[in-house]
Amino acid sequence: MSDPYKVLIIDDEEPILRLLQKELSSPERIIVTASTAESARQNARQEHFDVIISDIRLPDGDGLELLTDFKDMDPDVEVILVTGHGNIDNAVEAIRCGAYDYITKPFRLDRVELLVDRAWQRCCLQRENRSYKHTQKDSTGAQLVGCSSSIKRIRFLIDKVAPTSVPVLITGESGAGKDVVARSVHLASTRSNKPLVVKNCATLQRELSRSELFGHTRGSFTGATENREGLMTFAHTGTLFLDEIGELPIEVQASLLRVLEAHTYRRVGEKEERTVDIRFLFATNRNLALEVEEGRFHEALFHRINVFNIHIPQLKDRREDVPLLVEFFLGKLSEQMGQRPYTVSERAMQCLLAYDWPGNVRELRNVLERSIILSENGTITRKCFPQEIADQSAADQEAGVLSLERMEREHISKALEFYNGNRQKTAQALGIGRKTLYRKIEKFHL
Ligand SMILES: Nc1ncnc2c1ncn2[C@@H]1O[C@H](COP(=O)(O)OP(=O)(O)OP(=O)(O)O)[C@@H](O)[C@H]1O
Ligand SMILES: [Mg+2]
Repeated sequence: MSDPYKVLIIDDEEPILRLLQKELSSPERIIVTASTAESARQNARQEHFDVIISDIRLPDGDGLELLTDFKDMDPDVEVILVTGHGNIDNAVEAIRCGAYDYITKPFRLDRVELLVDRAWQRCCLQRENRSYKHTQKDSTGAQLVGCSSSIKRIRFLIDKVAPTSVPVLITGESGAGKDVVARSVHLASTRSNKPLVVKNCATLQRELSRSELFGHTRGSFTGATENREGLMTFAHTGTLFLDEIGELPIEVQASLLRVLEAHTYRRVGEKEERTVDIRFLFATNRNLALEVEEGRFHEALFHRINVFNIHIPQLKDRREDVPLLVEFFLGKLSEQMGQRPYTVSERAMQCLLAYDWPGNVRELRNVLERSIILSENGTITRKCFPQEIADQSAADQEAGVLSLERMEREHISKALEFYNGNRQKTAQALGIGRKTLYRKIEKFHL
């Protein structure tokens, strides 16, 4: 079952409030009540509501004003106004101002319940549409292909961490698969049917970054001609993936820390704090610890986002993944081109296995894309590759050396596992010095 949705009911007549609360309470809905406009505003600032039912006449204000304020705070909230008998003009005005619908007193309870459910459905649809716009267009899917022990370990970590709300820091070189891992975490989480909002922090403009993340109110700075929602609103109830987190302007780092710690933030130009429910994912190809040391990254923020780290090793350190990735990409490509499956000659595969892939998986994909154009009869040969890859002619010879390295890596990794990560015992068992072991752990990204 999906999470319950939240309904705020505002009426100054206590009996009506109680009646509606009783009637609408169910496992699918959480009901909150308020008897004045001011307390309703207060409530709406502190938590997000999905549907609001408000009397049009309140002791300290009117429902239409409230409607505008609610829509300002959250454009997707749906508001149903309750009018006294014969106040149809007001009701029409309400719809024009963006109310979902109106009901006239005295009302039938079953109609109210129906309306509330419909309003909730529309609210969901709008949130979905909005988040869709914010989700990267070229969603590359989230199939994490590979059979190496590192990829297996990553899959294991994803399964463990996904159902929690712990923030995850994904590290690895460019093209190694950080996006794929982030999407996998979201898809394996309980939020998979909620928005996944992706933002590359390198594209945040320094002066506007706060507003882009948290939103702003009309007139809060020059150029702020309208209220604006921030990414926090779009990602609410879902996942926010902040890519290249090392590029996050230092000005907003403390505010992000506040969201992580207290789940609250402030819009630019607003005093009140708002509450959000967001699962955070981060990625970087920088060494954040170093950035902290050099004063470019907020230390406390670093510790908060580095609670759970998933590191993706370079492709050259997990060459056993190459054949599977080749098969995966060629399968996709032949499907796209409506061709029968492409194959790779043995010599060509040797080259792919021997090459160092500075651009990691992305480079492999690009090379394959290019090579199928040059292929003949559906077979990819060495000649279809760029020079530096085709030149891996000493491939056979090197393959021996490489597999030795691979064996060493596997061996050390198994030993570490056996001794539960105890480096002293592992070094002893392997008959090498502790320093040498440290070097190898670093080299092999163990
Ligand atoms: N293990 C994998 N299985 C399937 N596809 C992968 C895998 N790793 C990477 N890819 C594909 O390789 C390409 C690059 O991966 P991705 O965008 O995730 O890299 P990245 O680490 O986010 O790089 P950057 O730092 O440049 O953003 C994408 O097309 C992605 O789908
Ligand atoms: Mg990426």
